[in-house]
Amino acid sequence: MATEETLVLVKPDGVARGLTGEILARIEAKGYSLVDLRLVEPDRQRLERHYAEHAGKPFYEPLLEFMMSGPSVAIRVAGERVIEGFRSIAGTTDPTTAAPGTIRGDLGRDWGCRSQQNLVHGSDAPESAARELSIWFG
Ligand code: PPS
Repeated sequence: MATEETLVLVKPDGVARGLTGEILARIEAKGYSLVDLRLVEPDRQRLERHYAEHAGKPFYEPLLEFMMSGPSVAIRVAGERVIEGFRSIAGTTDPTTAAPGTIRGDLGRDWGCRSQQNLVHGSDAPESAARELSIWFG
């Protein structure tokens, strides 16, 4: 099986709360490799490309506002089945109910904000990983 790559983002809430190191440690402890990493303050145009499939959904504007509220850390991560594997250690979308043991379940919760703050993003398929890696790493 060929080694995969995925895009992981530590979202603005994760960076602001000083959780980048903890999240990187969990990725490395799972056995994945950090291939590239950068701190990015994305503009609206980059986020519109990244979240194109969600345009028009009720959470789209709050999501873009949240993602522009501070820097994110973009990470290129490699490993066998890393796309699936990272989403497994990230946990489900809603941090309040994400399983304990996952990044969102252990470190995230609802803060009563308009935007859902769930610490990380991980690509959901090989095609989206390739597309998202080119958006964040060129
Ligand atoms: S869908 O419609 O099932 O594909 O949506 P879902 O996979 O649950 O979420 C898609 C991305 O939108 C984010 N999201 C939100 N962000 C901010 N505020 C609200 N209310 C909100 N609802 C969903 C969710 O975290 C997903 O972002 P990524 O970056 O892909 O994890």
